Amino acid sequence: MIQISENTTLIQPSKIRKMFNKALEYDQVLSFTLGEPDFTASENVVEAGCRAIREGQTKYSANAGLLPLREAISGYLKRTEGQEYDPVSQIVVTPGAMGALYLALKTILNPGDEVIVSEPCWTNYIQQIQMCGGTAVSVQTDPKRGFDLDVEAIRSAVTDRTRAIILNSPCNPTGAVASREALDALAQVAKEFDLAVLADEVYKHILFDGAEYTSLASLPGMAERTLVIDSLSKTYAMTGWRVGFAAGPAEVISQMTKLQENTSACASTPCQCAAIEALNGPQTHLEHMREQYRIRRDYVLERIASIPGLSCSKPQGTFYAFLDIRQSGLDSETFAMRLLEEEQVVLVPGTAFGEFGEGYVRLSYAASMESLEQGFDRIAAFMERCHG
Ligand SMILES: Cc1ncc(COP(=O)(O)O)c(C=O)c1O
Repeated sequence: MIQISENTTLIQPSKIRKMFNKALEYDQVLSFTLGEPDFTASENVVEAGCRAIREGQTKYSANAGLLPLREAISGYLKRTEGQEYDPVSQIVVTPGAMGALYLALKTILNPGDEVIVSEPCWTNYIQQIQMCGGTAVSVQTDPKRGFDLDVEAIRSAVTDRTRAIILNSPCNPTGAVASREALDALAQVAKEFDLAVLADEVYKHILFDGAEYTSLASLPGMAERTLVIDSLSKTYAMTGWRVGFAAGPAEVISQMTKLQENTSACASTPCQCAAIEALNGPQTHLEHMREQYRIRRDYVLERIASIPGLSCSKPQGTFYAFLDIRQSGLDSETFAMRLLEEEQVVLVPGTAFGEFGEGYVRLSYAASMESLEQGFDRIAAFMERCHG
C-alpha cells in the first residue's frame, strides 16, 4: 500500500468543491459557487494562442517565462501600479496566481513559521501555508467596517515566528477593498516587524464606483518587502489558461524561479504567448466585463435589500457578494444545504472561508442576469419559509 504523508493528510478538500459536487446530484440547479468569469477570453487572445500553437511555440520556455511576456507584465505593472520591475530579474511567470503563491510560500517559509491571514479569506492560502510547512494565523476582518482589514488585530498576531502577511484586496469572498488608511497601517506593521507581504491582486481590475487601486508595493519602503501576486485568470477571463506571475525583489524571484525549474518548469508556452496579447492588446473586453459585473452587483444588492432577513455589505470589487444570513436562524452550512435541497440554488457557506465566515454565504455573480433573477426568486421563497 502506498503511504500518504502526514502533511498531505492535513490538507482538507475545499467546501466550495463539496457544494459544487453535491449540486451535481440535482436537476435544474442554479449554481453561484465558482470563482471564475462566465465570459471567455477575447477573440484576439484566443487567436494569439492558436497562432502560437500553429507556429510551433510549443516548447518549454525559460523557467521565469518568455522574456516578451515578462516585458509585457513589467509594462502592465508600470501602468497599473506606477512601479518599475526589471523583466529579467524581478518577474517570474507561473501557472496561475496559485503557482506564484505556492512558490513564494515555499521560498520564504521554514517549518513552523507563521503567516498572518485575514479571514474570511480564500482558504487555499491556509492550505498552501500548511503544504509549505508553515502555520496560518488567522485574524478577522471587520464586518462593521465593510470587512476592511483590522490592522491592530494583525499587529497583535505578530510573534517571533511570523514571516509574512497575506493581503487580498479586493477580497474573495467579501468584495472588500482595503482602505488607504488600513494599507498605510499595514505597511507600518510590516516594516516594524520586518515582514514580507504577499499582495494577491487577482481582482484588482474588478473595482466599482470609481474606486482606484492602491498597490501596497508603491507605499514608501514597501517595494523591497512586497511580492505582487497576480494573474490573467479573472482580469482577462483566462482561468483555464493558467498564466499568473509574481513580481518583487530579485533575490526572492530568483529563488522562486529555481523552485519552478523543479516543479512545473514553466507556464504553458502557447498560453504565455496569448497572455502577451491580453496585456498589450486592447482592453475593451476587460472594460465590458467590469461593467457587466457592476450591473449585476447592483441588481444583487437590490434583490438582497428586498428580502427580509438578508443583508450584505456593498462589495467594492470582485464578483462576489457575502450575504449575512444570521436572521434566518440557520448556520451557514445548514442554510446552504437546505437552499440546495429545497430550491436547487447553490451558494457557498461562509465557513468555507474560515470560521469567521459563520453567519454568511457567498454568492458569485459571475453568472447571467437571467440566472440571477431566477436564483433570487428562489432565495426569496426560501427566506419566506425560514421566517414563516
Ligand atoms: C483570491 C484569489 N487568489 C488567487 C486565485 C487563483 O487564481 P489563478 O487562477 O490565477 O491561480 C483565486 C481564484 O479563485 C482567488 O480567488
